[in-house]
Amino acid sequence: MDARVPGMPMGALEDQVPSAAPFLPSLAGIDTAAIPRSKPRQVVEMTDGDSLDLKAGLVRHVVEGRTFVMYGYNGQIPGPLIKVRQRSRVVVNFTNEIELPTTVHWHGLRLDNPFDGVPGVTQEAVLTGESFRYELRFPDAGIYWYHPHVREDAQQDLGLYGNMLVEAPETDYYGPANRQEVLVLDDLLVDDLGLVPWGAEAATHALMGRWGNVLLVNGEPGYGLTVNRGDVVRFELTNVANARTFNLGFAGARMKLVATDVSRYQKEQWIQSVVISPAERYVIDVLFEEPGEHPITNRIQAVNHFLGDFLPLVDTLGTVTVLPESTEADHARAFVELRDYPDVSSDIERFRPHFDRPVDKEIVLTLEVGALHTSILTMMTVDTFYVPPLEWNDAMPMMNWLSTAREVTWVLHEPETGRKNMDIGWTFHEGDVVKIRIHNEPRSFHPMQHPIHIHGQRFLVLEQDGVVNTNMAWKDTALVPVGSTVDFLVDMSNPGDWMMHCHIAEHLSAGMMLRFTVEPKVVGQD
Ligand code: C2O
Ligand code: CU
Repeated sequence: MDARVPGMPMGALEDQVPSAAPFLPSLAGIDTAAIPRSKPRQVVEMTDGDSLDLKAGLVRHVVEGRTFVMYGYNGQIPGPLIKVRQRSRVVVNFTNEIELPTTVHWHGLRLDNPFDGVPGVTQEAVLTGESFRYELRFPDAGIYWYHPHVREDAQQDLGLYGNMLVEAPETDYYGPANRQEVLVLDDLLVDDLGLVPWGAEAATHALMGRWGNVLLVNGEPGYGLTVNRGDVVRFELTNVANARTFNLGFAGARMKLVATDVSRYQKEQWIQSVVISPAERYVIDVLFEEPGEHPITNRIQAVNHFLGDFLPLVDTLGTVTVLPESTEADHARAFVELRDYPDVSSDIERFRPHFDRPVDKEIVLTLEVGALHTSILTMMTVDTFYVPPLEWNDAMPMMNWLSTAREVTWVLHEPETGRKNMDIGWTFHEGDVVKIRIHNEPRSFHPMQHPIHIHGQRFLVLEQDGVVNTNMAWKDTALVPVGSTVDFLVDMSNPGDWMMHCHIAEHLSAGMMLRFTVEPKVVGQD
């Protein structure tokens, strides 16, 4: 819990513990000293037809001078940065060396369905000591990421995440930059005893998701970068936190928004900060003109539900040091022009006839609670007087910790059929364009924003609360604030069985997912 945010009276909850047993990583017969130290991420350049061995295993990871037993891919946190050319195909031979069953999901890729990594839908979970061969293809340029699709609340949080950087063949795909930095944003929850245990049989923190109290960039606190005066840095950002939405900014530097999950924007735009919810990616270009130290900040409005007041908070994720020496290649002139991307616009134009189509599917986001401790139930009733559209902090850490996926079910509810979560089974056809309207019910027991992710396809955010989006980009994940209604236009381009779910790891563990099928086009038909 953040000591800067005044807490709520906790009286009756003090002796309570979650209904799930505590879980921390280990492996029978392995002594901690024998577990290798985590290594920093390595870049793996792969060309068409290459293959990579990827292992999930135990590592000892040092954070702020304390050593924790965590997980890594190939001993690294983050896992290897896989660099590929757009439209190439590669193979990843995955082996599970952690004690839990796992899979690898290749987030955002419009890949072949058997390799999507969803246990019980596209494959069986990979048991300890077993392997699975993933064949990947990369139809779209951009920054993507991979993570387990089993108990993400624990496995991903413990270090199982990595990026894929898919490079377009066009040399002017983006404007010029002096360097490119791939940043993974995360947080980790620790207390005096070490990592706060996860739930063994069910996720803890099921109400709000698990919020860390140490902010991490590429697995470490205190990220630092040194550049020359006048350098343009392209930051490729991914949020891998379980629950936290960041509002990232660079003090004293100009910042522009260039691309997101599955494409560039139609046009670049100036921004003050970028709001990035779990699983989203943003590409931003930043010009550093002033020598000195520039903090990278997470500037938020913390809320105290009980008192109903807000508190501005600023956390520092790292520092960019700008040297007095001038840049070797000056791109300032190109930087100050906002570029249009006509090929993005013409691709989106093809979908314009569908913008005004009637809503095809409607989903309401809500939750159901079972046997929660009565003091939680009482306090939550008071608590819910003050509902911000977006929660930037965990304002009720005790109640949140105590709630597990056994007591809380997060729900994708389809009003038309009365169905919920995995009982909803949609069928579409390859080439369909589908409008999905998502409403986040503000009058539920504990409303919260939800980053909604769709597997294997791409979508446009057409409008939010009636405000039309005038600068679009293709997404695979988008945030639906409390009380908001957001229209997605989904390009059902990729056949198979796919998931749509909230990307707050605990909400997913607590049921917030549905499945849909895209039937393949019959050959010879249109
Ligand atoms: Cu990155 Cu189904 O998730
Ligand atoms: Cu959610």
